[in-house]
Amino acid sequence: MVLKLFTYKLVSILIITSLSLGFFSSTYSNPTSVYFLDCISHRISSNFSNIIITPNDTSYSTVLQSTIQNLRFDTPETLKPSAIITPLSYSHVQSTVICSVKSRLQIRIRSGGHDYEGLSFTSFDHTTPFILVDLNQLRSVTVDLDDKTAWVESGATLGELAYWVSQKSNLLGFPNGECTSVGVGGHLSGGGYGVLARKYGLSADNVIDALIVNVTGQILDRDSMGEDLFWAIRGGGGASFGVILSWKINLVSVPPKVTVFSLPKTLDQAATQVVNKWQYIGHNLSDDFFTNVIITPNTSTMVVTFNGLFLGTSVELMTEVNDRFPELGLRETDCIEMSWIESVVYYSVYLRGQSVEALKERIPWPKRYYKYKSDYVQKPIPEEALEEIWKWCLEEGLNLAIEPHGGRMSEIDESATPYPHREGNLYVIQYVMRWNEEGFDVTEKKVASIRRVYEKMTPFVSKNPREAYVNFRDLDLGTNGNACSTSYLQAARWGIKYFKGNFRRLAMVKGKVDPTNFFCYEQSIPPLFLSGSF
Ligand SMILES: Cc1cc2nc3c(=O)[nH]c(=O)nc-3n(C[C@H](O)[C@H](O)[C@H](O)COP(=O)(O)OP(=O)(O)OC[C@H]3O[C@@H](n4cnc5c(N)ncnc54)[C@H](O)[C@@H]3O)c2cc1C
Ligand SMILES: *[C@@H]1O[C@H](CO)[C@@H](O)[C@H](O)[C@H]1NC(C)=O
Ligand SMILES: *[C@@H]1O[C@H](CO)[C@@H](O)[C@H](O)[C@H]1NC(C)=O
Ligand SMILES: *[C@@H]1O[C@H](CO)[C@@H](O)[C@H](O)[C@H]1NC(C)=O
Ligand SMILES: *[C@@H]1O[C@H](CO)[C@@H](O)[C@H](O)[C@H]1NC(C)=O
Ligand SMILES: *[C@@H]1O[C@H](CO)[C@@H](O)[C@H](O)[C@H]1NC(C)=O
Repeated sequence: MVLKLFTYKLVSILIITSLSLGFFSSTYSNPTSVYFLDCISHRISSNFSNIIITPNDTSYSTVLQSTIQNLRFDTPETLKPSAIITPLSYSHVQSTVICSVKSRLQIRIRSGGHDYEGLSFTSFDHTTPFILVDLNQLRSVTVDLDDKTAWVESGATLGELAYWVSQKSNLLGFPNGECTSVGVGGHLSGGGYGVLARKYGLSADNVIDALIVNVTGQILDRDSMGEDLFWAIRGGGGASFGVILSWKINLVSVPPKVTVFSLPKTLDQAATQVVNKWQYIGHNLSDDFFTNVIITPNTSTMVVTFNGLFLGTSVELMTEVNDRFPELGLRETDCIEMSWIESVVYYSVYLRGQSVEALKERIPWPKRYYKYKSDYVQKPIPEEALEEIWKWCLEEGLNLAIEPHGGRMSEIDESATPYPHREGNLYVIQYVMRWNEEGFDVTEKKVASIRRVYEKMTPFVSKNPREAYVNFRDLDLGTNGNACSTSYLQAARWGIKYFKGNFRRLAMVKGKVDPTNFFCYEQSIPPLFLSGSF
């Protein structure tokens, strides 16, 4: 004990010395990391070689890169963790938190690794080394058919979740995003929007319990964490409050047959007029009918694809379309009937054509270089403006994914969960820039392109604040700076875009459960104390 204390003091002196000398490096050989490794290997006594991975280990790069989805954050310049911990049990997660706190390292928490800005596995702060806790191995899904619930661990993918539910029942599903390689941990803690949202709301709206490791290293469930923290982790963005191990979710009913279609239209085929009409009714169709709009530049013109999912047969769908949306020009031959689980494969476009079994194989979404942004639209955009927008996208090589709100999304109160974009929102736009070439210049060019279109979109989208979706993470909105030095008021500038009035409550919860701001990163929620500076 005396010896340990002494080591700790020595380490602290070393930290202070190296900081003041200005040669503090974020590599694994720094004293804090040595202290951390000592701490964690003592706590994880059995067989820790597969659990604790240092840059000296041959598996380090493979494990680090395994779920990096955005190649922009997989370059030699990308800051890398001093160590990677891949817990096999909840106690390993507890030990990781306890040892990180003690050694004053930052922590990055990764479930599926799909964060648009890489915040689950890298850092932009050259002054503070970090370790990565990768929940990849914690991915069980336990379905309870009697009460139509499941416990799902954060490291499971959305594909695994859907697959294991479907193995128990073909009449149950879960509302979440379409890309099946996305991780449960990040997705549920940031909201989780998908084809069932108009019927059942977000993933986060259907969470009924959770297990979280707090900054003290204790495991809390809904009862012991209390309703404020339970509220915050259902959409407040992951990783500001603790490590969420597992989620209890309500499963929802799906019919034995659903109908899908994917209908591309060119501008000659009146695509713009159809999108215009869609703006008025996409959010107001029956809750059973979801149809989004994907805008893709194709050589010299734009292609507009309407993707539909209907919770019923094609005959019922045709009745609804003919009644409400004949302009779509959908024919019964465009429609494909299938089971719910087959539609999950169909909608996760990169898996299209594969068997349902592929869902449990954790097949990664194609890795490329990406930059994303998002907007909410509350008033239909004039048709002439839509034409202009297509031109901008064509010039800049930009894709848009436009997803309807309405239905259940509008019924849920703005403050019921941290996700505030409810009634009054017609749809969310996701701007997607992707490219294949590495390099600083091409990155600058592509990022400048997407920012130009975003700038020109200002008149057509939500204002005061200009709203954004936290799961479509965008560091252009603002960051916390080195060692999370930003104040509450500075952070509120980006915080209200993601959370509107809920940002303040999130910051107050943060002040209660993580007052020293240990769980901090570029866009973590800053702590706010009631009697404090605000
Ligand atoms: C191809 C693609 C398609 C997508 N489609 C959709 C869609 O249809 N709908 C939608 O809503 N979103 C979609 N997204 C966005 C996606 O929901 C978010 O990126 C989500 O946060 C990813 O979760 P993850 O576990 O894979 O990410 P990670 O990168 O692992 O984590 C994301 C954030 O959550 C934190 N975090 C992760 N796990 C935990 C945990 N267990 N405890 C605490 N914090 C944690 C991380 O630290 C990080 O800050 C898509 C993303 C991609 C790349
Ligand atoms: C340790 O891990 C290795 C590799 O996974 C395994 O073969 C071995 O049986 C494990 N040993 C113990 C004691 O668990
Ligand atoms: C990594 O290897 C170097 C060189 O062999 C050694 O000095 C260092 O202590 C090792 N670090 C760890 C964390 O094992
Ligand atoms: C859809 O429009 C009808 C009237 O056309 C209205 O009564 C209803 O409330 C709308 N529903 C939604 C979800 O906006
Ligand atoms: C996109 O362009 C390619 C090549 O010009 C063409 O073959 C294809 O049919 C186009 N796609 C659509 C949907 O128009
Ligand atoms: C973490 O949880 C434990 C057990 O409930 C509690 O005693 C402790 O105060 C919590 N830590 C914080 C910082 O809230």
